[in-house]
Amino acid sequence: MVNIGFIGAGGITQNHIQALKLLSNAQVVSVYDANREAAVRLSEATGAQVMDSADQVLDRSRIDAVYICTPQFARGNLEETAVERGIHLFVEKPLGIDLEVALKKAEMIEQSGLINAAGYCLRYYDTLQEVKQYLQGKHVHLIQAHRFGTAHSSRWWWQLEQSGGHLVDAVTHQVDLIRYLVGEFSEVYSQSSNSAFARMKQESTIYDAGALSFGLESGAVGSITESCLSPYCRGSEIKLFGADFYVHIENNKKVTIMDGSRHITQTSQLNAMYEENRAFVNAVESGRQDLILSSYADGAKTLAFTLAANRSAAEKRAVAL
Ligand SMILES: NC(=O)c1ccc[n+]([C@@H]2O[C@H](COP(=O)([O-])OP(=O)(O)OC[C@H]3O[C@@H](n4cnc5c(N)ncnc54)[C@H](O)[C@@H]3O)[C@@H](O)[C@H]2O)c1
Repeated sequence: MVNIGFIGAGGITQNHIQALKLLSNAQVVSVYDANREAAVRLSEATGAQVMDSADQVLDRSRIDAVYICTPQFARGNLEETAVERGIHLFVEKPLGIDLEVALKKAEMIEQSGLINAAGYCLRYYDTLQEVKQYLQGKHVHLIQAHRFGTAHSSRWWWQLEQSGGHLVDAVTHQVDLIRYLVGEFSEVYSQSSNSAFARMKQESTIYDAGALSFGLESGAVGSITESCLSPYCRGSEIKLFGADFYVHIENNKKVTIMDGSRHITQTSQLNAMYEENRAFVNAVESGRQDLILSSYADGAKTLAFTLAANRSAAEKRAVAL
């Protein structure tokens, strides 16, 4: 049995709890949230003990693993403390808002040999695994992606210095899939604006729209357009163009592959959040880091791209990675 503690009991934690409840080898034993009511709600749903501090959750005699699900500006040194105490760790994406801090944590976590995961759940869709396999040995030369939707309801999300904005917080999933399926980024140029928020007099410092162009180490080029102010056109697409094939990913789990001998469309029936939690719990139980599709260190590379894009937008110049 893997005993788990939660730090942060907001929206995403509810999703993890739904998944963990379906696993016979996991139990949630402790929880801390700065808002005690949120922790009490989680306790009522799981039987977990409400703790008075994050430090109390990080008790190795009580838990094997911790889920760090506070907003990205509120991670402090939770990862370092977990590592010092020998506690395996699942950290929600994005891994922070300061790349240097995340990279230091990544190094410490890697050296510890502890099981670690970053919350890039979409990697667990079987259809995306098929795409990854299909692309082995193939060259993608052009990528076109977008993600449109609406803003998170929590106040912290609307502040650039707390969330990093829609790109760092949400579009990070599509950025991560591009890295996972095609390869590492080499450069980004971003034009981002808050022209709509300004007209609405919205109290917010995040961008409401972004248009990014980028290069990959492979020589491929591409673009991402994104907005968190698009209630009537929502969703995401990633198009991968090859000289003799085409891959289309719609809303992360519907995949079309076209080439000279096939034209297949498949939609995953899996629940990626469940698969991600199952992989993490099994990895902790068996000591097998290879079951995890996104390590902390891998997640830090995705953060590097999104923060570089924000820097590009602020400084109005291309930024190398
Ligand atoms: N993997 C995904 O698809 C996914 C989806 C949603 C959110 N997330 C990520 O999960 C994290 C949390 O997002 P959310 O949607 O649950 O936010 P939320 O605002 O719903 O909940 C955050 C919770 O953290 C608590 N909190 C804030 N500061 C704290 C601190 N210092 N110590 C303890 N508790 C603290 C708040 O009281 C709140 O209950 C974010 O990093 C977000 O990007 C990931």
